[in-house]
Order: sequence, then structure tokens, then C-alpha cells
Amino acid sequence: MVSPNKFPCFPRGCLTVIYLDNAATSFPKPDPVIEAVMRYMREIGASPGRSSHRLGRLADETVFKARRALARLFGVHRSEYIVFTANATEAINVAIKGILSRGRHAITTSLEHNAVLRPLRTMVQHGARLSIIKSGGGPVAPEDVRRAINRDTRLIVTTFASNVTGALMPVKEIGEVAKAHGIPYLVDAAQAAGSVSINIDESPIDLLAFTGHKALLGPMGTGGLYIAEHVDFDPLKEGGTGSNSTSLLQPQALPDKFEAGTLNGPGIAGLGAAAQYILDAGIASIRERELALANRLEEGLFGIAGVKVRSWPGRSERIALTSITFDGLSSQEAAHRLDQEFGVCVRGGLHCAPEAHKSIHTYPHGTVRFSPGPFTSESDIDAAIAAVRRIAA
Ligand SMILES: Cc1ncc(COP(=O)(O)O)c(C=O)c1O
Repeated sequence: MVSPNKFPCFPRGCLTVIYLDNAATSFPKPDPVIEAVMRYMREIGASPGRSSHRLGRLADETVFKARRALARLFGVHRSEYIVFTANATEAINVAIKGILSRGRHAITTSLEHNAVLRPLRTMVQHGARLSIIKSGGGPVAPEDVRRAINRDTRLIVTTFASNVTGALMPVKEIGEVAKAHGIPYLVDAAQAAGSVSINIDESPIDLLAFTGHKALLGPMGTGGLYIAEHVDFDPLKEGGTGSNSTSLLQPQALPDKFEAGTLNGPGIAGLGAAAQYILDAGIASIRERELALANRLEEGLFGIAGVKVRSWPGRSERIALTSITFDGLSSQEAAHRLDQEFGVCVRGGLHCAPEAHKSIHTYPHGTVRFSPGPFTSESDIDAAIAAVRRIAA
């Protein structure tokens, strides 16, 4: 169990803010993350992978350490299989557009974020075909994925955790189906990375896209893609890598193949510190604490007349995220009132996942989503429950 006083105080200033929007982006960030970004900006400054002077070497070392910390966090035995991107969206685009082509078929689920659905749609416009496995808000059946496979299937893409219902997908079982058919399996871990234990070397995941700024507690503009050794495809961009400069061809070795252009040094420094912070705190204790908070929130919300809890129930097959609707009040209006009248920061609307809302019949009005983080206290949750009760009344 992570003790709340292991964490720094919330910087409230003169405003009372109860931040329950960690599924959009985590806040506040741990001090070591802020310090690592500042240190890079103040004391390192140089471009990673380029110059061999002492600052260049410090930059290289920072990126190397960040890659290694992420590899440890995700159970990847060789850190070069993790390539840095600007966010999960870029990582997902790289994988989908690199792997799918005209006439080929992909399988996904109705719980996906637009970061998955839009690039898949684009590939459909370019002649690919798509099967969407329906979910009622919870995990899809691996058997349904198996049934959707045909001889043209080249990619299976699912989220690890829904950003609308919080449900976890049966990633291991779907991975086994994919592996049995020799089809690459791409997992969108935007919500899961940092909040759920992930061990890639023990589960059949071929590609894992993650973002740095959510549960990983890192800065915005960071993320990455794990690419298994046996999965080969072309990158979306080519350019300078600081390596093999005599060749006009993009290097084929990872991570350079997918890291053309100058990396986000300060962001990666912060992301590395964030991964190390989570490794030190222990992902199991962070998860247990966040789930206890979500449970406290839901117990408080269940009895309120005019409020319906829409997220996936239970204590284990989910992340700490609670979606609700108010009878007779739009989710955007409710989120606005929670902020303006009670200082509770949550997100209303469709959360960039319209198909997920159709799956749980909350389209087009959406839900109000509460997402605690490692720095949320029980009194924050109690204040949010009281605010919901006042609005519902
Ligand atoms: C499930 C899921 N996938 C992908 C993304 C995209 O993440 P990013 O905007 O950091 O690329 C999000 C962000 O909300 C998400 O919740």
C-alpha cells in the first residue's frame, strides 16, 4: 500500500482544486519528474544521439536510462525494442499504418479510442478491411476475436483498458489467439501503462503503444511503442538519427529505425524519472490504492437518486475510473458545474471514444468521468461525492 504522505502535497495555491481527471492527464507530477525535466533544460541541454562532447554524452545517458526504466516497468528484456514517440497516438499510427495495407484485414473492438479508430478508418479508405468486435462496455470474448480472423487478417488491435468504462481487456488471451494465427497484436496501453502491471516478455503482445503523461506520471509530448523483434514494418518518417550518416537509407536497427529527428530530451528525462518513480513506489500498491479510491467513490455515488454509474463494475478487471450520468443534465454541463461550483476537475462528453459510448448507450451525450491518481486523497473523493449529491438534488 502506498502511503499518501509518501507523495508531495497538492499545490493548491489559493484555489481549492480537486483534480480527478488523471485519465486525461495525470496531475500533479511527482517532484523527481519535474526535477529531471528542469535538470535537462538547465544542465544538459544537448541533443541526444548526436554530438560526442560531454553534454551530448549526458543527453545519451539520460535517454538510455529512461529507455531502460521503461523496459523494466514493462518487462521487456531488451530496451532498444522500445522506441520513443510524441504520445500513444503517434505510436498507434506508426504501427497501424506501417503494418496494414490495401486488401488486408484488421480486427479491433468497439471500446477503442479515436487514436485507434481514426487511423484504422483511414486505412479502410485506402482499401483495407476492418472487423469491430462489439463490447457491452466490458472485456470482449477472445473467441469472438478468433472467429473474426480470416486469411487476410494482418493486425489485431485492442485497448488494454477502456478510457470510458475502465474495463480491462483479456490481453493475454487475445494475444494467445493472435500468436496461434501468426498475426501481430497491437495493444493500446495509453490508460494501462503505469496503472496496471504489464509484463511483455510473459504475454504474447507484439506491439504496445503507451503515452507518458497519463498514469506513467511523465510529461506531455512523451510516449513510445514497444516492437517485438519478429515484427518488421516500415517507419512513417525517415531522417537524421545520428547513426549511419553515410547511408541515404533509414537505419534498420531499433530504436533508430523509428526515431528520426531530434528526440524530446527534456520530456524523456522526465518520463525516465517517472518510470523510476513508479518502479520504486510499486505498481501493485499504486493500483491497490487507486482502486480503493474508485471503490469508495462508487459506493458513495450508488445511493444518489438521479445518478447512474456507467463504468465497468467490480474490483479487479478494471482500472480506477468511474463514468456517471445525471438524469436530465448533460455530462458537459455537469462537469462544468462540478468545476465552477465545487472545484472538482473531471471530464464530461465522449472522451474521444464515440464507439465506446455507443457500446454503453451513453452516445451522444457522454458521461462525466472521475479518474483518481496516486495523489488523490480520500477526502478528495468524499468532496466529489458531496458535490455530485448537491448537483443531483
Ligand atoms: C485509451 C486511449 N488511447 C489513446 C489515447 C491517446 O493518448 P495521447 O493523446 O496521449 O496520444 C488516449 C488518451 O486519452 C486513451 O485514453
